[in-house]
Amino acid sequence: FEVSWDAAAAEKGGWPSFMAKEVAEEPEAVANTIRGRVRDGAVVIPELDGLDDLFTGINRIIITACGTASYAGLVGKYALEHWARIPVDVELAHEFRYRDPVIGADTLVVSISQSGETMDTLMAVKYARERGARTLSICNTQGATIPRESDAVVYTHAGPEVAVASTKAFVAQITALLLLGLHVGRVRGSLEDGAASVAELEALPAKLAHVLESEQGHVAQLAGWMADTRSVLFLGRHVGYPIALEGALKLKEISYIHAEGFAAGELKHGPIALIEPGQPVFVIVPSPRHSALIHAKVVSNIQEIRARGARVIVVAEEGDAAVLPFADEVIRIPLAGAFFEPILAVIPLQIFAMALATAKGLDVDQPRNLAKSVTVE
Ligand code: G6P
Repeated sequence: FEVSWDAAAAEKGGWPSFMAKEVAEEPEAVANTIRGRVRDGAVVIPELDGLDDLFTGINRIIITACGTASYAGLVGKYALEHWARIPVDVELAHEFRYRDPVIGADTLVVSISQSGETMDTLMAVKYARERGARTLSICNTQGATIPRESDAVVYTHAGPEVAVASTKAFVAQITALLLLGLHVGRVRGSLEDGAASVAELEALPAKLAHVLESEQGHVAQLAGWMADTRSVLFLGRHVGYPIALEGALKLKEISYIHAEGFAAGELKHGPIALIEPGQPVFVIVPSPRHSALIHAKVVSNIQEIRARGARVIVVAEEGDAAVLPFADEVIRIPLAGAFFEPILAVIPLQIFAMALATAKGLDVDQPRNLAKSVTVE
Protein backbone atom coordinates (compact mmCIF):
# COMPACT_ATOMS: atom_id res chain seq x y z
CA PHE A 1 0.00 0.00 0.00
CA GLU A 2 1.45 3.27 -1.08
CA VAL A 3 0.15 6.73 -0.37
CA SER A 4 0.75 9.11 -3.23
CA TRP A 5 1.01 12.72 -2.22
CA ASP A 6 1.14 15.64 -4.49
CA ALA A 7 1.34 19.26 -3.54
CA ALA A 8 -1.59 20.41 -5.67
CA ALA A 9 -3.95 17.85 -4.13
CA ALA A 10 -2.81 18.88 -0.67
CA GLU A 11 -3.43 22.54 -1.45
CA LYS A 12 -6.98 21.69 -2.52
CA GLY A 13 -7.58 20.45 1.02
CA GLY A 14 -9.52 17.38 -0.10
CA TRP A 15 -11.69 19.23 -2.62
CA PRO A 16 -11.78 17.94 -6.23
CA SER A 17 -10.76 21.36 -7.56
CA PHE A 18 -9.65 24.79 -6.40
CA MET A 19 -12.95 26.13 -7.64
CA ALA A 20 -14.91 23.72 -5.40
CA LYS A 21 -12.70 24.72 -2.47
CA GLU A 22 -13.13 28.41 -3.20
CA VAL A 23 -16.93 28.13 -3.49
CA ALA A 24 -16.95 26.38 -0.10
CA GLU A 25 -14.90 29.26 1.29
CA GLU A 26 -17.44 31.91 0.30
CA PRO A 27 -19.08 32.34 3.74
CA GLU A 28 -15.60 32.92 5.18
CA ALA A 29 -14.58 35.30 2.36
CA VAL A 30 -17.63 37.48 3.06
CA ALA A 31 -17.18 37.33 6.85
CA ASN A 32 -13.50 38.31 6.54
CA THR A 33 -14.34 41.21 4.26
CA ILE A 34 -16.86 42.60 6.78
CA ARG A 35 -14.64 42.02 9.82
CA GLY A 36 -13.31 45.20 11.46
CA ARG A 37 -15.49 47.44 9.33
CA VAL A 38 -18.52 47.79 11.60
CA ARG A 39 -18.28 50.19 14.53
CA ASP A 40 -21.17 51.01 16.91
CA GLY A 41 -23.77 49.59 14.53
CA ALA A 42 -22.50 51.54 11.52
CA VAL A 43 -20.16 50.73 8.65
CA VAL A 44 -16.86 52.51 9.13
CA ILE A 45 -14.01 51.46 6.86
CA PRO A 46 -10.78 52.19 8.79
CA GLU A 47 -8.71 52.46 5.58
CA LEU A 48 -10.87 55.45 4.62
CA ASP A 49 -10.36 57.36 7.88
CA GLY A 50 -9.47 60.96 7.11
CA LEU A 51 -10.49 60.58 3.48
CA ASP A 52 -14.08 61.91 3.69
CA ASP A 53 -13.32 64.51 1.01
CA LEU A 54 -12.93 61.66 -1.49
CA PHE A 55 -16.71 61.28 -1.17
CA THR A 56 -17.95 64.75 -0.30
CA GLY A 57 -15.95 66.71 -2.86
CA ILE A 58 -17.32 64.81 -5.86
CA ASN A 59 -20.54 64.73 -7.81
CA ARG A 60 -20.22 61.40 -9.57
CA ILE A 61 -18.63 57.97 -9.33
CA ILE A 62 -17.40 55.82 -12.20
CA ILE A 63 -16.81 52.16 -11.42
CA THR A 64 -14.38 50.47 -13.77
CA ALA A 65 -13.38 46.81 -14.04
CA CYS A 66 -13.25 43.80 -16.38
CA GLY A 67 -15.08 40.48 -16.45
CA THR A 68 -16.59 39.22 -13.23
CA ALA A 69 -15.41 42.30 -11.32
CA SER A 70 -17.45 44.51 -13.66
CA TYR A 71 -20.62 42.60 -12.72
CA ALA A 72 -19.86 43.12 -9.04
CA GLY A 73 -19.54 46.78 -10.04
CA LEU A 74 -23.07 46.79 -11.47
CA VAL A 75 -24.48 45.55 -8.17
CA GLY A 76 -22.38 48.25 -6.51
CA LYS A 77 -23.88 50.93 -8.75
CA TYR A 78 -27.42 50.13 -7.63
CA ALA A 79 -26.43 50.07 -3.94
CA LEU A 80 -24.25 53.21 -4.05
CA GLU A 81 -26.89 55.26 -5.82
CA HIS A 82 -29.53 54.09 -3.34
CA TRP A 83 -27.54 54.70 -0.17
CA ALA A 84 -25.19 57.51 -1.10
CA ARG A 85 -27.49 59.40 -3.53
CA ILE A 86 -24.75 60.04 -6.03
CA PRO A 87 -24.78 59.19 -9.76
CA VAL A 88 -22.74 56.07 -10.54
CA ASP A 89 -21.76 54.67 -13.93
CA VAL A 90 -20.09 51.34 -14.60
CA GLU A 91 -17.57 51.21 -17.43
CA LEU A 92 -15.57 48.31 -18.76
CA ALA A 93 -11.99 49.46 -18.21
CA HIS A 94 -10.90 48.81 -21.81
CA GLU A 95 -13.76 50.94 -23.17
CA PHE A 96 -13.48 53.73 -20.62
CA ARG A 97 -9.97 54.76 -21.47
CA TYR A 98 -10.38 54.82 -25.21
CA ARG A 99 -13.55 56.84 -25.56
CA ASP A 100 -12.60 60.32 -24.33
CA PRO A 101 -14.79 60.27 -21.18
CA VAL A 102 -15.76 63.43 -19.28
CA ILE A 103 -13.89 63.15 -15.98
CA GLY A 104 -12.09 65.52 -13.64
CA ALA A 105 -11.61 66.46 -10.00
CA ASP A 106 -15.35 66.05 -9.34
CA THR A 107 -15.19 62.36 -10.28
CA LEU A 108 -14.25 59.39 -8.09
CA VAL A 109 -13.13 56.41 -10.15
CA VAL A 110 -13.58 53.15 -8.26
CA SER A 111 -11.67 50.24 -9.81
CA ILE A 112 -12.36 46.62 -8.92
CA SER A 113 -9.82 43.87 -9.48
CA GLN A 114 -9.23 40.56 -7.74
CA SER A 115 -5.59 40.38 -8.84
CA GLY A 116 -4.89 44.09 -8.84
CA GLU A 117 -2.78 43.46 -11.95
CA THR A 118 -5.27 43.45 -14.84
CA MET A 119 -3.64 45.72 -17.40
CA ASP A 120 -6.89 47.11 -18.82
CA THR A 121 -8.04 48.15 -15.35
CA LEU A 122 -4.63 49.52 -14.37
CA MET A 123 -4.49 51.69 -17.50
CA ALA A 124 -8.01 53.00 -16.78
CA VAL A 125 -6.92 54.01 -13.26
CA LYS A 126 -3.80 55.77 -14.56
CA TYR A 127 -5.85 57.52 -17.23
CA ALA A 128 -8.35 58.74 -14.59
CA ARG A 129 -5.54 60.05 -12.36
CA GLU A 130 -3.90 61.90 -15.22
CA ARG A 131 -7.18 63.71 -15.78
CA GLY A 132 -7.42 64.79 -12.15
CA ALA A 133 -10.00 62.27 -10.92
CA ARG A 134 -9.73 60.74 -7.45
CA THR A 135 -9.21 56.99 -7.43
CA LEU A 136 -10.14 54.20 -5.06
CA SER A 137 -9.52 50.54 -5.71
CA ILE A 138 -11.21 47.42 -4.42
CA CYS A 139 -8.65 44.64 -4.57
CA ASN A 140 -8.03 41.14 -3.22
CA THR A 141 -4.23 41.19 -3.42
CA GLN A 142 -2.24 43.15 -0.83
CA GLY A 143 0.21 45.58 -2.37
CA ALA A 144 -0.74 44.87 -6.01
CA THR A 145 -0.11 47.47 -8.71
CA ILE A 146 -3.66 48.87 -8.99
CA PRO A 147 -3.97 49.73 -5.26
CA ARG A 148 -0.48 51.25 -5.38
CA GLU A 149 -1.63 53.52 -8.22
CA SER A 150 -4.81 54.59 -6.37
CA ASP A 151 -5.48 57.30 -3.76
CA ALA A 152 -7.24 54.79 -1.50
CA VAL A 153 -7.85 51.06 -1.32
CA VAL A 154 -10.48 48.85 0.27
CA TYR A 155 -9.22 45.27 0.33
CA THR A 156 -11.48 42.28 -0.06
CA HIS A 157 -10.29 39.53 2.25
CA ALA A 158 -11.33 36.50 0.22
CA GLY A 159 -7.90 34.88 0.51
CA PRO A 160 -5.94 33.64 -2.52
CA GLU A 161 -8.12 32.62 -5.45
CA VAL A 162 -6.45 30.02 -7.68
CA ALA A 163 -9.19 28.81 -10.05
CA VAL A 164 -9.35 30.99 -13.16
CA ALA A 165 -13.11 31.50 -12.84
CA SER A 166 -13.73 33.91 -9.98
CA THR A 167 -16.15 32.85 -7.24
CA LYS A 168 -15.25 33.82 -3.68
CA ALA A 169 -13.56 37.01 -4.88
CA PHE A 170 -16.82 38.01 -6.62
CA VAL A 171 -18.95 37.73 -3.48
CA ALA A 172 -16.23 39.54 -1.52
CA GLN A 173 -16.21 42.32 -4.15
CA ILE A 174 -19.96 42.81 -3.83
CA THR A 175 -19.57 42.80 -0.04
CA ALA A 176 -16.85 45.47 -0.25
CA LEU A 177 -19.04 47.58 -2.55
CA LEU A 178 -21.96 47.32 -0.10
CA LEU A 179 -19.62 48.36 2.71
CA LEU A 180 -18.41 51.26 0.57
CA GLY A 181 -21.99 52.29 -0.24
CA LEU A 182 -22.94 52.30 3.45
CA HIS A 183 -19.73 54.15 4.38
CA VAL A 184 -20.21 56.80 1.67
CA GLY A 185 -23.92 57.13 2.49
CA ARG A 186 -23.05 57.82 6.13
CA VAL A 187 -20.30 60.30 5.24
CA ARG A 188 -22.57 62.17 2.81
CA GLY A 189 -25.45 62.12 5.30
CA SER A 190 -27.87 60.41 2.94
CA LEU A 191 -28.08 57.03 4.64
CA GLU A 192 -31.31 56.15 6.39
CA ASP A 193 -31.50 53.19 8.72
CA GLY A 194 -27.91 52.01 8.33
CA ALA A 195 -28.36 49.69 11.31
CA ALA A 196 -30.73 47.42 9.35
CA SER A 197 -28.11 47.05 6.63
CA VAL A 198 -25.41 46.24 9.16
CA ALA A 199 -27.64 43.46 10.50
CA GLU A 200 -28.11 42.20 6.92
CA LEU A 201 -24.35 42.22 6.35
CA GLU A 202 -23.62 40.30 9.50
CA ALA A 203 -26.24 37.68 8.68
CA LEU A 204 -24.76 36.98 5.24
CA PRO A 205 -22.09 34.35 6.05
CA ALA A 206 -24.60 32.01 7.75
CA LYS A 207 -27.05 32.44 4.88
CA LEU A 208 -24.32 31.64 2.35
CA ALA A 209 -23.44 28.51 4.28
CA HIS A 210 -27.12 27.57 4.25
CA VAL A 211 -27.37 27.89 0.44
CA LEU A 212 -24.25 25.78 -0.01
CA GLU A 213 -25.61 23.10 2.26
CA SER A 214 -29.20 23.02 1.04
CA GLU A 215 -28.83 23.49 -2.73
CA GLN A 216 -25.46 22.01 -3.72
CA GLY A 217 -26.82 18.49 -4.35
CA HIS A 218 -29.92 19.71 -6.15
CA VAL A 219 -28.01 22.04 -8.48
CA ALA A 220 -25.33 19.45 -9.23
CA GLN A 221 -28.04 16.93 -10.16
CA LEU A 222 -29.63 19.50 -12.45
CA ALA A 223 -26.30 20.09 -14.16
CA GLY A 224 -25.86 16.35 -14.62
CA TRP A 225 -29.16 16.16 -16.49
CA MET A 226 -28.14 19.09 -18.67
CA ALA A 227 -24.68 17.99 -19.76
CA ASP A 228 -25.76 17.91 -23.44
CA THR A 229 -27.33 21.35 -23.41
CA ARG A 230 -26.00 23.65 -26.13
CA SER A 231 -27.22 26.99 -24.81
CA VAL A 232 -28.47 28.39 -21.53
CA LEU A 233 -30.06 31.79 -20.94
CA PHE A 234 -30.12 33.78 -17.70
CA LEU A 235 -32.62 36.50 -16.83
CA GLY A 236 -32.64 38.95 -13.95
CA ARG A 237 -33.99 42.32 -13.01
CA HIS A 238 -32.61 45.06 -10.73
CA VAL A 239 -29.57 43.58 -8.91
CA GLY A 240 -30.56 40.17 -10.31
CA TYR A 241 -29.51 41.47 -13.73
CA PRO A 242 -25.74 41.49 -13.03
CA ILE A 243 -26.17 38.07 -11.44
CA ALA A 244 -27.71 36.81 -14.70
CA LEU A 245 -24.67 38.20 -16.54
CA GLU A 246 -22.31 36.50 -14.09
CA GLY A 247 -24.19 33.18 -14.28
CA ALA A 248 -23.77 33.23 -18.07
CA LEU A 249 -20.08 34.19 -17.85
CA LYS A 250 -19.30 31.34 -15.42
CA LEU A 251 -20.91 28.85 -17.79
CA LYS A 252 -19.03 30.17 -20.83
CA GLU A 253 -15.71 30.25 -19.01
CA ILE A 254 -15.60 26.74 -17.65
CA SER A 255 -18.18 24.61 -19.48
CA TYR A 256 -17.75 26.17 -22.98
CA ILE A 257 -21.51 26.24 -23.40
CA HIS A 258 -23.09 29.19 -25.14
CA ALA A 259 -24.78 31.31 -22.49
CA GLU A 260 -26.22 34.78 -22.33
CA GLY A 261 -27.53 36.92 -19.54
CA PHE A 262 -30.26 39.47 -20.10
CA ALA A 263 -32.15 42.08 -18.16
CA ALA A 264 -35.57 40.43 -17.85
CA GLY A 265 -37.33 43.58 -19.08
CA GLU A 266 -35.30 43.41 -22.28
CA LEU A 267 -36.77 40.01 -23.15
CA LYS A 268 -39.62 41.42 -25.21
CA HIS A 269 -37.22 43.67 -27.13
CA GLY A 270 -35.45 40.77 -28.80
CA PRO A 271 -34.19 37.81 -26.77
CA ILE A 272 -37.64 36.22 -26.51
CA ALA A 273 -37.19 35.19 -30.16
CA LEU A 274 -34.57 32.71 -28.88
CA ILE A 275 -37.10 30.82 -26.78
CA GLU A 276 -38.09 27.48 -28.24
CA PRO A 277 -39.33 24.32 -26.58
CA GLY A 278 -36.79 22.89 -24.17
CA GLN A 279 -34.55 25.99 -24.01
CA PRO A 280 -33.17 26.15 -20.46
CA VAL A 281 -33.58 29.56 -18.83
CA PHE A 282 -32.46 30.51 -15.34
CA VAL A 283 -34.48 33.32 -13.82
CA ILE A 284 -33.26 35.21 -10.75
CA VAL A 285 -36.45 36.25 -8.97
CA PRO A 286 -36.15 39.16 -6.54
CA SER A 287 -38.04 38.95 -3.27
CA PRO A 288 -41.60 40.31 -3.40
CA ARG A 289 -40.87 41.98 -0.05
CA HIS A 290 -38.44 44.40 -1.69
CA SER A 291 -40.77 45.42 -4.48
CA ALA A 292 -44.04 43.71 -5.28
CA LEU A 293 -43.93 45.44 -8.66
CA ILE A 294 -40.48 44.20 -9.70
CA HIS A 295 -41.37 40.71 -8.48
CA ALA A 296 -44.64 40.70 -10.44
CA LYS A 297 -42.82 41.81 -13.60
CA VAL A 298 -40.31 38.97 -13.31
CA VAL A 299 -43.07 36.42 -12.66
CA SER A 300 -44.82 37.68 -15.78
CA ASN A 301 -41.54 37.20 -17.75
CA ILE A 302 -41.45 33.64 -16.47
CA GLN A 303 -45.00 33.06 -17.71
CA GLU A 304 -44.07 34.43 -21.14
CA ILE A 305 -41.11 32.12 -21.62
CA ARG A 306 -42.90 29.13 -20.12
CA ALA A 307 -45.78 29.63 -22.57
CA ARG A 308 -43.18 29.26 -25.35
CA GLY A 309 -41.89 26.00 -23.97
CA ALA A 310 -38.78 27.16 -22.08
CA ARG A 311 -37.44 24.93 -19.35
CA VAL A 312 -37.55 27.36 -16.45
CA ILE A 313 -35.18 27.12 -13.49
CA VAL A 314 -35.89 29.82 -10.93
CA VAL A 315 -33.72 31.08 -8.12
CA ALA A 316 -36.21 32.48 -5.62
CA GLU A 317 -36.58 33.34 -1.99
CA GLU A 318 -37.77 30.63 0.39
CA GLY A 319 -41.54 30.88 0.66
CA ASP A 320 -42.09 32.67 -2.66
CA ALA A 321 -44.98 30.53 -3.94
CA ALA A 322 -45.85 32.74 -6.92
CA VAL A 323 -43.10 31.11 -9.00
CA LEU A 324 -44.26 27.53 -8.43
CA PRO A 325 -46.90 27.19 -11.16
CA PHE A 326 -44.46 28.23 -13.90
CA ALA A 327 -41.14 26.71 -12.81
CA ASP A 328 -39.65 23.36 -13.78
CA GLU A 329 -37.09 23.65 -11.00
CA VAL A 330 -36.95 25.94 -7.99
CA ILE A 331 -33.69 26.77 -6.24
CA ARG A 332 -34.26 28.43 -2.88
CA ILE A 333 -32.24 31.15 -1.19
CA PRO A 334 -32.91 32.61 2.28
CA LEU A 335 -34.61 35.95 2.81
CA ALA A 336 -32.19 38.87 2.56
CA GLY A 337 -32.31 42.61 1.94
CA ALA A 338 -32.55 43.77 -1.68
CA PHE A 339 -28.84 44.53 -2.14
CA PHE A 340 -27.69 41.48 -0.19
CA GLU A 341 -29.74 38.96 -2.16
CA PRO A 342 -27.37 38.85 -5.20
CA ILE A 343 -24.57 37.48 -3.02
CA LEU A 344 -26.81 34.50 -2.24
CA ALA A 345 -28.35 34.15 -5.71
CA VAL A 346 -25.01 33.75 -7.49
CA ILE A 347 -23.98 30.67 -5.49
CA PRO A 348 -26.27 28.18 -7.27
CA LEU A 349 -25.15 29.57 -10.64
CA GLN A 350 -21.48 29.07 -9.76
CA ILE A 351 -22.21 25.52 -8.59
CA PHE A 352 -24.21 24.85 -11.74
CA ALA A 353 -21.34 25.93 -14.01
CA MET A 354 -18.85 23.90 -12.01
CA ALA A 355 -21.02 20.77 -12.00
CA LEU A 356 -21.77 21.04 -15.71
CA ALA A 357 -18.08 21.44 -16.58
CA THR A 358 -17.30 18.46 -14.36
CA ALA A 359 -20.05 16.39 -16.03
CA LYS A 360 -18.42 17.19 -19.38
CA GLY A 361 -15.06 16.02 -18.05
CA LEU A 362 -13.44 19.46 -18.22
CA ASP A 363 -10.75 20.98 -16.02
CA VAL A 364 -12.75 23.55 -14.04
CA ASP A 365 -9.66 25.28 -12.63
CA GLN A 366 -7.79 25.83 -15.89
CA PRO A 367 -10.24 26.54 -18.70
CA ARG A 368 -8.85 26.72 -22.21
CA ASN A 369 -7.69 30.08 -23.60
CA LEU A 370 -8.10 31.92 -20.28
CA ALA A 371 -5.65 33.32 -17.76
CA LYS A 372 -6.33 34.17 -14.14
CA SER A 373 -4.86 37.58 -14.54
CA VAL A 374 -4.56 39.29 -17.92
CA THR A 375 -1.52 41.55 -17.74
CA VAL A 376 -1.53 42.64 -21.37
CA GLU A 377 -3.92 45.11 -22.99
C1 G6P B 1 -9.56 37.65 -16.37
C2 G6P B 1 -10.15 36.46 -15.62
C3 G6P B 1 -11.57 36.77 -15.16
C4 G6P B 1 -11.58 38.03 -14.32
C5 G6P B 1 -10.95 39.21 -15.08
C6 G6P B 1 -10.71 40.39 -14.16
O1 G6P B 1 -10.20 37.81 -17.58
O2 G6P B 1 -10.15 35.31 -16.46
O3 G6P B 1 -12.04 35.69 -14.37
O4 G6P B 1 -12.89 38.35 -13.96
O5 G6P B 1 -9.68 38.84 -15.59
O6 G6P B 1 -9.72 40.06 -13.23
P1 G6P B 1 -9.35 40.92 -11.98
O7 G6P B 1 -8.15 40.25 -11.36
O8 G6P B 1 -9.02 42.30 -12.48
O9 G6P B 1 -10.54 40.94 -11.08
